[in-house]
Amino acid sequence: MVFKSNGSQADDAAAAAARESVQHAAAAPAASHIGVPMSPLSEVLWRGKGFMKPSNEGHNNTYGEVLGAAAMLTWKDLCVTVVGGGQTILQSISGYAEPGSIMAIMGPSGSGKSTLLDVLAGRLSKNTVHSGEILLNGHRKNTLCYGTAAYVTQSDDLIATLTVHEYLHFSANLRLPSSISRAEKKVIVDTTMHEMGLHECANIHVGNWHLRGLSGGEKRRLSIALEILTRPRLLFLDEPTSGLDSASAFFVVSTLRNLARDGRTIMASVHQPSSEVFELFDDLTLLSGGRCMYFGKATDAPQHFAAAGFPCPALKNPSDHYLRAMNADFDLLKSTLHGSSTYTDLESSMDPLDRMTTKEVVGILAEVYQKSDYATAAMSRIQQAAETEGMVLKSIGSHASFFTQCWILTQRSFMNMNRDIGYYWLRSIIYILLSLCLGSVYWRVGFKYSSILGRAGCIAFIAGFLTFMSIGSFSSFVEDMKVFSRERMNGHYGVAVFVISNTLSSLPYIFLMALISGSIVYVMVQLHHGIEHYIYFILCLFAELACADSLMMAVATICPTFLVGILVGSCIQGIYMLVGGFFRLPKDLPRAVWHYPVSYLGFHMYGLQGMFKNDFLGLTFGSFILNGKAITPVIPGSYVVENMYGIQTSRGKWADLGVLFGMILVYRLLFFICIKLNEDLQPRVRAYLMRYRTAKKINNK
Ligand SMILES: Nc1ncnc2c1ncn2[C@@H]1O[C@H](COP(=O)(O)OP(=O)(O)O)[C@@H](O)[C@H]1O
Ligand SMILES: [Mg+2]
Repeated sequence: MVFKSNGSQADDAAAAAARESVQHAAAAPAASHIGVPMSPLSEVLWRGKGFMKPSNEGHNNTYGEVLGAAAMLTWKDLCVTVVGGGQTILQSISGYAEPGSIMAIMGPSGSGKSTLLDVLAGRLSKNTVHSGEILLNGHRKNTLCYGTAAYVTQSDDLIATLTVHEYLHFSANLRLPSSISRAEKKVIVDTTMHEMGLHECANIHVGNWHLRGLSGGEKRRLSIALEILTRPRLLFLDEPTSGLDSASAFFVVSTLRNLARDGRTIMASVHQPSSEVFELFDDLTLLSGGRCMYFGKATDAPQHFAAAGFPCPALKNPSDHYLRAMNADFDLLKSTLHGSSTYTDLESSMDPLDRMTTKEVVGILAEVYQKSDYATAAMSRIQQAAETEGMVLKSIGSHASFFTQCWILTQRSFMNMNRDIGYYWLRSIIYILLSLCLGSVYWRVGFKYSSILGRAGCIAFIAGFLTFMSIGSFSSFVEDMKVFSRERMNGHYGVAVFVISNTLSSLPYIFLMALISGSIVYVMVQLHHGIEHYIYFILCLFAELACADSLMMAVATICPTFLVGILVGSCIQGIYMLVGGFFRLPKDLPRAVWHYPVSYLGFHMYGLQGMFKNDFLGLTFGSFILNGKAITPVIPGSYVVENMYGIQTSRGKWADLGVLFGMILVYRLLFFICIKLNEDLQPRVRAYLMRYRTAKKINNK
């Protein structure tokens, strides 16, 4: 079967593969992958998309012969520094990761393991820059495009309200081709759950503050399972075993090893693995203080340490020995023990590691490595790989169509909003309570002269404060953004899909909130009678709430920290409220800045004016009474709107509502733009600043 990257054929082939996968899974669910070709699903998704064949030197990976698309990743003289002449995190690191093998990156805390993974995956944080050459199948890569590699981060940013099965089910539908039938997707999900040992907790929620959920190990395995659903060729994992007991860690790494044997390139940073876990790794990179202490086969590392004069004692776990040798914290420990009997024991010890400082040990290890055959072999392999151009690996994030993604993500998001009581339900309860308070404070407000102020105050509170309460959902927005960010980086779906699905899924809840709280107020206060006025009031409140939610989502994009986001969001809304036309009449607002443009940017002004026109126009209010005498005639509503509140009635209330609905779109577009700017503009600005600073430094010299 030949796989062509042409849409429908690809999908047909993938569908056929899934069918094979179904039979395969049914026939041998627990078969070892070592030495066997790719699974049927992988084969169809990848075969024919490339021709890279890993070297047979070193590993006995004859399965390499059958590889279709594979990822040969090399990096040479890789340096990472903090922008502005700060700390150097990685210094001249070279190496390669080849298909069919699993590499461990080890080193003490802060040695640069995560940074190495980040730079290879094109995910360096925004305040760092890198130099050096990264090649994927012989092609230069500054950053990998989203989804080329799957990356399982150290933090498990998962949707807390979904069960394991639901999560994988949604993820499969989001990313597998539409031509694969439901039943086949189900088998893929079940197989992956089995593969990661998650079948026993299939119906358990991930868990949050109000839902009891998965253990840390299970969450970690779910994060991995979500990434391996589409069988990515390149998989990075940051500390996949941290926080797991030894059995779980062994289980996870042996699963990863089997995945590697299926033709994938897997790199994982690991912290202090047990000897059983350590034995599962093919290759090893040892880092200390951002320098390379060793790169090569894991089984050759003991010889390297012996050659450097630090042989691993017979009964010691090799990984413990390596980390003991490279961890500068032991120096600190020694200095605190100074003068004690333990210190004297260390000084008289036969072990060279006890008699030398870590700085000395690390210096020797680095020097011996640079001159060793391992370094020479690595450089020649890197050179060889650089000269062999393989296929250009593009994003493999999703095979599903745009509309399928929108539909699936909307469903998932709707379900999450429903189950996460902090998203809308808690806010709805507060709205209902507030509406009851508001209704009783302005109970049957009536048509007296004082009712003018009553109605205006009531409407201003609704248009201002009720929308302001959208900050109450901010923590859920931030959680949503974290999940989006992880899935986006791994290419599960695009920004447009996220924005559309988030909008569609949230609107029903916002409408429900507007309907319930608006109705309570309307009935209790007895605002302008008539169905048309009531419908207008509900729609206006709904549009305002939708605008406020969109604004807060945009804020969550820029300020992912809860506290900063709340402050920024409430500050913006506070200003909009201030210039909305109630606290200061529109005609009295200072022209520059506050009137133009701020009052026109905010949705409060349109909401307030629309609701005022809806309520006051057509009503008549009692005259102003002084000392028991009416000193004014009865006051028509139009006079209140135009003269007392300075609102132009030339623009009708429906036009105000139209503008508000337009603003929902504008603010959602702003949300989209904020995400895009965050992704695209920031790295460019950073690169420009870096070039500018470097040029300035050179000029000063
Ligand atoms: N974005 C960053 N800005 C400044 N320093 C950083 C940044 N990322 C990492 N570092 C520093 O680089 C060192 C290595 O970090 P990291 O790669 O996370 O180490 P590891 O994963 O091995 O624990 C640490 O000292 C860390 O403080
Ligand atoms: Mg780390």
